[in-house]
Amino acid sequence: MTHVEQLESARLKAAEIVGAASTSDELSSVEAELLGKDSTVGEVRRAMGSLDPEDRPVVGAALQAATREIQGLIDSRRTAIETEEEADRLSGDSIDVTLERISFPQGSLHLIQQTIDEVVDIFVGLGYQVASGPEAELAYYNFDALNTPATHPSRLESDTMYLDFGDPEDEVLLRVHTSPVQVRWMEQQEPPVYIVVPGKAYRTDTIDATHLPVFHQIEGLAVDESIRFSDLKGTLLQFAREYFGAETEVRLRPHFFPFTEPSAELDISCFACSGSDYSCRVCSGAGWIELLGCGMVDPNVLEAVGYDPTRVSGFAFGMGVERIAQVRHGINDMRTYIDNDLRFLRQFV
Ligand code: PHE
Repeated sequence: MTHVEQLESARLKAAEIVGAASTSDELSSVEAELLGKDSTVGEVRRAMGSLDPEDRPVVGAALQAATREIQGLIDSRRTAIETEEEADRLSGDSIDVTLERISFPQGSLHLIQQTIDEVVDIFVGLGYQVASGPEAELAYYNFDALNTPATHPSRLESDTMYLDFGDPEDEVLLRVHTSPVQVRWMEQQEPPVYIVVPGKAYRTDTIDATHLPVFHQIEGLAVDESIRFSDLKGTLLQFAREYFGAETEVRLRPHFFPFTEPSAELDISCFACSGSDYSCRVCSGAGWIELLGCGMVDPNVLEAVGYDPTRVSGFAFGMGVERIAQVRHGINDMRTYIDNDLRFLRQFV
């Protein structure tokens, strides 16, 4: 076979060989096979130098034509393969942006928990520690150690949720306030004491707009050398201004609790009116809103935990979480806290 015939046959076979390559890698080896130095084209190219001068133009032209044609076949096959490979890649990791995402609704803290967190933060900012105690409590901690005599009306079976009633020595009940934690803490720790106690309390109240039988309180207790009534008022004023607004004023009205002496109720100035508006939905014109109970820790309570009332004194307060949130947010019915109505809950996310 002459060189020209060899090239012609290589050219004729090329289309089939190139067409059989189905990946870029296969095509690269086909390119070496058809145009590389061991290919027919390669051999002819190498033989050019030793050809008779008169044969050279003919063989040269045939070589060039064969090379160009085979290279053309390879190039167009490469384009086809790359297009195909790219399409495969794209369809392999495509994202269908029209697909609706599966959404998992995110919950949020209930307003009561948010309120507890906010109030606790205020007192932690004042240097208080956070304490807790059992909800199923001994009558001793709920009443006796808090200077509440056996004859006190709240000790009646009908007024407190007892788990074990009868023998005053070891009655168990659902605590009616967070105050027993005052006693539990002081039994374990020496003064100074600065604690807040968020937690649940239970009463035999019928559910209505202002009562829930299970509700939350935040207790506060400060015992140190020379704590005075003015410290109580200053502390509660600071709390009231942080929680209700910087303009808030407070007033203390005499009251009675067995475990504080003197005892008081704290009112805050009405933030919704100037105090003389009889149609005010918050204070009805009183100008003041009743908020929480407080007082100086009764010496009998200090003695019950082994503290020396001639050396230390203290104040305590207890606020209803549902109550303070109701006042601040203008919630007119406490039952909405426990209805689980999303239209209510979503207002406080
Ligand atoms: N424990 C009282 C209540 O539940 C509130 C209170 C706490 C009053 C501490 C004085 C001191 O009403």
